Amino acid sequence: MAYRSALVTGASKGIGAAIAAALVAQGLTVYALGRSESVLAELAAQLGDRLRPLVADVRDHAAIAEKLSGKEIDVLVNNAGGISTVRPLHEQTAEETEEGIALNLTAPLQLIRMLLPGMIARKRGHIFNLTSTAASAVFPGTTGYGAAKAGLSQAGRILRYDLAGTGVRLTEIAPGRVETQFYLQAFSGDAESLQERMYSHQRALHPEDIAAVLVNAMKLPAHADIAEIIVSPTDQAIGGHVYPAASG
Ligand SMILES: NC(=O)c1ccc[n+]([C@@H]2O[C@H](COP(=O)([O-])OP(=O)(O)OC[C@H]3O[C@@H](n4cnc5c(N)ncnc54)[C@H](OP(=O)(O)O)[C@@H]3O)[C@@H](O)[C@H]2O)c1
Repeated sequence: MAYRSALVTGASKGIGAAIAAALVAQGLTVYALGRSESVLAELAAQLGDRLRPLVADVRDHAAIAEKLSGKEIDVLVNNAGGISTVRPLHEQTAEETEEGIALNLTAPLQLIRMLLPGMIARKRGHIFNLTSTAASAVFPGTTGYGAAKAGLSQAGRILRYDLAGTGVRLTEIAPGRVETQFYLQAFSGDAESLQERMYSHQRALHPEDIAAVLVNAMKLPAHADIAEIIVSPTDQAIGGHVYPAASG
């Protein structure tokens, strides 16, 4: 494995924690970025000294640049993301809209901008962007989130022109429903309702499924790059919403 180190954003739980564990198991040193120092410390205690906690808000790219100064990052996993509300755009606050775009679109672009020059200089690198099936299908109440994920998806396609000939690979992974705490805030912290509504009736994906896909893509020979991949639960079709007839 030519890659030695990785930065995984949103590594404290869910998909990011599973990816961090999988990359440590592959022998990489993993900088695990999240806001919760205690949770990242627990992860480090479980995974050993190749897991290096990096406590930061992913939107604070200046602080991240400072903490990573002098470190070579071969694999960037843009995983941190979230949705604070599932509501029509006009019912959101200005802050909710702005923060959603900053987290799901601006932050990954800033990290790519920051880390790509080093990857190109070393002729070695792999960027993974975690988008969503919401980047292409319509899920009501997710206007800002879907727009941000679609933006990141399109950014990846354009970036491939910048990357051509550099040896740096870029893979977009677009998951369907994965059982994590992703919707917990949108469910006002009600874990029981979340479990009943989202995960009890159909089998969702597990975070480890996404980590396995990422590792498989990373381990392909250097000349091969999976550009985009949709990972769907067997029990989920994307979209498929129906609308009640208009009244009157
Ligand atoms: N779960 C799904 O069904 C699903 C489907 C499609 C795509 N995805 C995508 O997969 C990615 C991971 O989602 P998940 O399901 O694992 O969600 P999750 O369980 O809610 O975990 C989100 C992670 O992101 C971190 N994070 C959130 N805001 C952050 C910020 N401002 N700065 C730093 N870290 C931040 C969280 O850590 P702290 O709170 O400790 O900072 C946490 O580690 C996201 O990009 C999501 O859009 C998820």
